[in-house]
Formats: sequence, structure tokens, C-alpha cells
Amino acid sequence: MTTVIEKNQKNGRLEVGTPLLEVKDLHVEFHTRDGVAKAVNGVNYSVAAGETLAVLGESGSGKSVTAQTIMGILDMPPGKISQGQILFRGQDMLAMSEEDRRQIRGQKIAMIFQDALSSLNPVMTVGAQLGEMFRVHRGSSKKEAREKAIELMERVRIPAARQRVGDYPHQFSGGMRQRIMIAMALSMEPDLIIADEPTTALDVTVQAQVMDLLAELQAEYNMGLILITHDLGVVADVADKIAVMYAGRIVETAPVHELYANPAHPYTKGLLRSIPRLDQKGQELYAIKGLPPNLLKVPAGCAFNPRCDVATDLCRTEIPKLHQVSDKDGKELTGRRSACHLWKETLHG
Ligand SMILES: Nc1ncnc2c1ncn2[C@@H]1O[C@H](COP(=O)(O)OP(=O)(O)OP(=O)(O)O)[C@@H](O)[C@H]1O
Ligand SMILES: [Mg+2]
Repeated sequence: MTTVIEKNQKNGRLEVGTPLLEVKDLHVEFHTRDGVAKAVNGVNYSVAAGETLAVLGESGSGKSVTAQTIMGILDMPPGKISQGQILFRGQDMLAMSEEDRRQIRGQKIAMIFQDALSSLNPVMTVGAQLGEMFRVHRGSSKKEAREKAIELMERVRIPAARQRVGDYPHQFSGGMRQRIMIAMALSMEPDLIIADEPTTALDVTVQAQVMDLLAELQAEYNMGLILITHDLGVVADVADKIAVMYAGRIVETAPVHELYANPAHPYTKGLLRSIPRLDQKGQELYAIKGLPPNLLKVPAGCAFNPRCDVATDLCRTEIPKLHQVSDKDGKELTGRRSACHLWKETLHG
């Protein structure tokens, strides 16, 4: 363990807890023929070095659009960033020069996608793809770049890396391809990795291996990690804190264990109840009633109200703010916020 820490310090690795990314009041909308869809509607979140933030929520809640905006790969148009800041180590990426932004996005922040096969170039060997970053950004020779590629492949535990460096993406299994994606993301030793459903396309057993690898490398390099997923099982093992999204907004944030032990938002409660559990074998699996809203026709008030068992008239008229929540004695709970008018009842009731 000490060797890792020493190495990190020698390499100028950030100290755990150094603020890396802060998304502030981000609004992203899509202008479509049928109207304006507010896909991201005032999102705030942050992640520090060595920290894992999991972003949870049903399909269409704005998880990927937020990530794409951070990475600068949002389709514009139809997408439009209408408001907000994305601070990377205190500097607003949305306000900096294109050149500065490119440097951060290529080298300081890396992204891993769900589908390695469509993210990797099918007609280029994995070695050439891994090495390219070193040639472009570090001016490495072809030979040096190849050695770096092998080193990275070994780092993500691809067997027989030296023999396989000249293979093409389709010659690897899904799990191995995802390891190559991780290697690619790691190549420039970024401060932050954004992983958008990194294991969704894999078999369950392989999912766990890839997730473990990612978590291990993150800890070793003190990286920040934003992990986007539907999978509450994955989150419990690796995340430090969670942001739950619904219809473009964050509806709850909490340290991971507190969220599991005592969720504050009715939507989070529903999500947690819908995980299959071994001790409830035979019982019918819970599902939150209804469907996520059409973003062109978001319900008035709290967007979740038509699906909520405890909604009141207030919930149908007024959009709840993301409140700081407190325990029964009124003591603020660190990192815990809920966008529910009834948070006291749902948390303590
Ligand atoms: N290029 C686009 N044009 C129009 N609408 C878009 C575009 N990309 C995303 N959207 C809309 O933005 C909303 C949020 O999408 P996003 O991809 O962020 O969801 P998500 O939370 O990542 O869902 P999933 O879990 O399915 O990946 C969706 O309603 C989607 O239809
Ligand atoms: Mg997505």
C-alpha cells in the first residue's frame, strides 16, 4: 500500500479529497420539432480526487447528457447548454478557450462508454489505438508508443498483452474490449474518469471483474470517478456518494451507505425496493408504478408526483427544491439532500 502512495506522490498525483469537478446549475435542452426537451434541468454535483460519485436514475433522466456535456461531446444542435458552469479544478470549462478545453478533455478527464465495440476503431489494432495517444500528446516514437500500449494492456490484465497488441478489437471478448477501453481512458493518467454504464453490455460475472478493476485503478491513481448506472448492486460496492436523477433533476444526494439504509426521496425508495433480494425469494418484485415522464410534457410540480404514493396537492403544483435534510433532532446530515416537499415524513416517518 505504501508503495502505491509513494508512487502517487512522486508522480504528482492529487491528494485524496482535492476538488476536481463541480457541475453548477447545469441546464441542457434539446430543440426538437415537437418542442423543447429540458434533458438537464439545474443539475449540481461534484467529485473529488479518490472519490466515486454514482449517478443513478431510470432511462431518460439525463445522466448521459450531463456526462456528454462535461466531456464536450454533446450533439449541438439539437442540444444546447442554456445555463450553468462546469468547473474543473476551479476553472469553468464552458468559459475557457477551445484549446484549453481540449487539453483538459483529452488528458485530464477521460470517458468510458458502454459499448467498446462501437467506441474502438474496428480497422485499427488495439496497440495502435492505445499508442496513438502517446504519439499525439507525448510525441512518442512508434516503438515507444507500442511499448506503452503493451504496458497499459498488462495494467488492465489482458493476458499475453505482447502477443495480442497487434490484434483488432473484434478479436477480443466483450470483457477484454472493455478493459481496452479502460486502458485507453487511463493512458494519459487523467484526474477524472466518467464511466457511462461501463459494464451494462457484459455478462454478469464479467461485469464484476471489470468493475473491480476500475475501482482498483481508481484507488491506485487517486482518480475521481463518476459512475453512471442503473445498477444499484454495482453502486453499493464501489461508490462513496450517490446522486439520484429524475427527469433532468437531481432528486436526492447522499453518502452511499446512508442512501441504502434510509432513502429520503420516494423515488429512491422505489428504486431500492425494486432490487431483487435473495431473502425475499418467491415474493413478487416491486416496480415503481407508471413510466418516466415525456420531457416535452413534464407534470406540473414535482415531476415524480403521478408515480408517487404520498404526493399531496403541494407536490402537484410546486417544484420541490433540493433541501438539506436533517436527522430527527434537527442536526444536518452531511451530504444529504432531497428534492421532496415531504422529506421529513419520508425520512423519519
Ligand atoms: N440527440 C438528442 N436529441 C434529442 N433528444 C435527446 C438527444 N440526446 C438525448 N436526448 C433526450 O434527453 C433525455 C435524457 O437522455 P439521457 O441520454 O441523458 O438519459 P439517461 O439518463 O442517460 O438514460 P439511459 O439510462 O437510457 O442511458 C432523453 O429524454 C433523451 O431522449
Ligand atoms: Mg445514458
